[in-house]
Amino acid sequence: MTQDELKQAVARAALDYVAEGDIIGVGTGSTANFFIDELGKQSHRIKGAVASSEATATRLKSHGITVFDLNEVERLSVYIDGADEINSRGAMIKGGGGALTREKIVASVADRFICIADASKLVDVLGKFPLPVEVIPMAVAAVGRRLAALGAVPTLRMKDGSPYLTDNGCQIIDASGLQITDPSTFEVKVNDIPGVVSVGLFARKGADVCLLGTAGGVKTLMF
Ligand code: 5RP
Repeated sequence: MTQDELKQAVARAALDYVAEGDIIGVGTGSTANFFIDELGKQSHRIKGAVASSEATATRLKSHGITVFDLNEVERLSVYIDGADEINSRGAMIKGGGGALTREKIVASVADRFICIADASKLVDVLGKFPLPVEVIPMAVAAVGRRLAALGAVPTLRMKDGSPYLTDNGCQIIDASGLQITDPSTFEVKVNDIPGVVSVGLFARKGADVCLLGTAGGVKTLMF
């Protein structure tokens, strides 16, 4: 099976976690896109969704799914999203697609985080994938120095020759060279740096379930 087929398989499996009449939270990225396309085939089943990015909102709407502003919604039954890395305890690195802050916000109001990922995303130690950190533009250099002091090699994310801009008008530093053995503690440390909007470590509130696409089928990991 190709990586896309594995992503499609977990996207289909995630539909089992969506109950009739729900408003759900929806993530960002290629795996989340497969999920949106599957959801679109049965869009009548749900009341609507809260999107973690402008791109996701556009895709949901293209399938006729009602997109709610998070301020209109008190609680979400599930938040369904991919990950760049996930460990055996459900801690994740996210933000490869640049939507980490809104992903964290939407996930925070959901009862359960259902992570959908192909098997390549399961790792023993987080950090081989550069850790995305969303930063207020004026603080990029200062935050970069603080990340370097924590052992990272900071690189400002670029797009078309300019700093990449998030949906929130901020920039992203990708912190590479890390071996994150205590993800919860590291999440707090990076969040605490002035100028950091959020860090793409989802450890204090990680996944509750991971649907992992493997050659032998979809495996369900519970945390
Ligand atoms: C976007 C994310 C994505 O969930 C993460 O990058 C995984 O993406 P993909 O499903 O394309 O592999 O955090 O900000």
